[in-house]
Amino acid sequence: MPEKPTEEMKSFFDSRSESYDKHMQENVASFEAFYRKIAEPIVPTAEPVKILDLGCGTGLELEAILKRAPRALITGIDLSGEMLGKMQEKYIDFSNQINLIQGNYLKEDLGKGVFAYAVSVMTVHHLLPGPKQELYTKICSALRPGGKYIEGDYYVVPEKEKEYLEKYKGRDEEGRGQYHIDLPFSLETQKQLFSFAGFSRVELVWEEGESGIFVAEK
Ligand SMILES: C[S@@+](CC[C@H](N)C(=O)[O-])C[C@H]1O[C@@H](n2cnc3c(N)ncnc32)[C@H](O)[C@@H]1O
Repeated sequence: MPEKPTEEMKSFFDSRSESYDKHMQENVASFEAFYRKIAEPIVPTAEPVKILDLGCGTGLELEAILKRAPRALITGIDLSGEMLGKMQEKYIDFSNQINLIQGNYLKEDLGKGVFAYAVSVMTVHHLLPGPKQELYTKICSALRPGGKYIEGDYYVVPEKEKEYLEKYKGRDEEGRGQYHIDLPFSLETQKQLFSFAGFSRVELVWEEGESGIFVAEK
């Protein structure tokens, strides 16, 4: 059977933005606990701590983050204008703290030594190994010394990772990050990528089925 053509990422999420939150509530294992855990590495503070959210979508991770850091200054980047629109509606009370950028986080300049935390949830499993490594290096450099990168995503056993890599081997990287492919890596590969990117300490703080949360410290 011919393989389905890969959907373009932006239109994939634009067309699902209405039903997205419900879909995640029904399909992410231990949904509430998972998103609560994402925020836990953030030390509770009343300070305007700077947080970068890559692929922020409708902002599911922000609810728990803003409980821990209610004055946080959030920079959210996402390809999908429709997903960002939903996020704006949901967090209207925090609009003066949230700066949303519609763009590709692989291409955006993330700055150097700017953020206390960077977060990505359920988004970087769409990346091929090369662009993912480059992104991690960029994230590490965008963090302040001692800053933390929190990643919640799908991870698989090494045998499954091999199958995914085989499936997407040789795929043109021209559209880097622009197409909706699912390419989760193993925990071992993830740890290597974080270490190559310059993070000094990496910890897996949550694991359930194929979902996990890493904290990587600069
Ligand atoms: C599964 S959603 C996750 C949204 C949110 N973080 C959450 O956990 O609900 C993935 C999001 O990443 C965004 N995305 C994927 N690749 C991207 C890229 N290269 N640059 C910016 N956003 C991207 C998509 O548009 C989508 O909104």
